[in-house]
Amino acid sequence: MNVIDKAGSAAALDFDRFRLRRFVETLGPDELETRAGPTALADVAAALEANPRAVHFRAAGAEAHELVGNVNGSRARLARAFGVAPGGLAAEIQRRLRGKPEIVEVTEAPVQQEVLTGDDADLTALPVHLQHGFDGGPYISASIDYVIDPRSGWTNVGIRRLMLRGRRETGVDLVSPSDLKAIYEASAAAGRPLPVSFVVGAHPVDHMAAMMRLPVDELGLVALLRDQALPVVKCVTNDIRVPADAELVLEGYFDARGHVEPEGPYGEFLGYYGALKRNPVFHLTAITRRRDAVCHTSPSWGKHPIIWRGRRIRQ
Ligand SMILES: Cc1cc2nc3c(=O)[nH]c(=O)nc-3n(C[C@H](O)[C@H](O)[C@H](O)COP(=O)(O)O)c2cc1C
Repeated sequence: MNVIDKAGSAAALDFDRFRLRRFVETLGPDELETRAGPTALADVAAALEANPRAVHFRAAGAEAHELVGNVNGSRARLARAFGVAPGGLAAEIQRRLRGKPEIVEVTEAPVQQEVLTGDDADLTALPVHLQHGFDGGPYISASIDYVIDPRSGWTNVGIRRLMLRGRRETGVDLVSPSDLKAIYEASAAAGRPLPVSFVVGAHPVDHMAAMMRLPVDELGLVALLRDQALPVVKCVTNDIRVPADAELVLEGYFDARGHVEPEGPYGEFLGYYGALKRNPVFHLTAITRRRDAVCHTSPSWGKHPIIWRGRRIRQ
């Protein structure tokens, strides 16, 4: 990994090319609905449900945050993120995966323009909304997790939803087999908390990389799919490196108590509710963000029927 100091960083790297905000700005009215006026958090899910377009809320919730949803909700938009026609998406991803990843560490990053710690780091001040009517609480649903596997030193990257439990605490769904589950369980078995950072507000290409489960340092996977050098920055309260051009980062750790707290139910993407589960707890130590950060949300339901306790509650 190259390291570029303060003076060299800004000139050498483009921190806008893979900004979520920049991607959203490339979408025309056929792909993007813009809600200029205030939107109550209670109305966000209804505006996104079954909507084929991405939606940009210019003033969501009491704090009038910028929020976008449904960004990754169409193959056409994903293909656009890779700069190809929808039919060429798979081939383009395969081409990029054959490259050589380049990662550049910077010491001054847009995503750390604002750093909130202590009482100022407050999840309830973010535009976190109830995603589906019977969810166990409001969820952050477009969160990309970055964790260092202590055994290999590699960074693992995935997507995990977070259920608000308070200002600085969330649940996380870590039941299905995944690399993060294995890394967490090894830490918990040794009685050690696991540091983790979540990016909320990432380019669709980063989401595609996060969904891949490969035995490599997955920071390199993000760089490969970008087809460009990936600028990373060390988090303020842990040693994890995250994309320096992200919109917002939640830093913290999973405590070592294991799968002990209730999490869910949650409206899964196939149109049914995932049951209440026992899951680990995430503790927030800092929020870092761009001054004009745009948050991201991905509630699951499109046009599917909705099933609750075996009963169809929407056709
Ligand atoms: C929108 C979205 C949300 C997801 N949420 C979760 C989740 O909450 N828990 C989970 O175990 N997997 C979730 N996944 C799947 C994992 O992110 C995926 O399996 C990933 O490859 C796991 O990475 P890992 O094995 O490197 O940890 C989600 C995927 C997507 C696309």
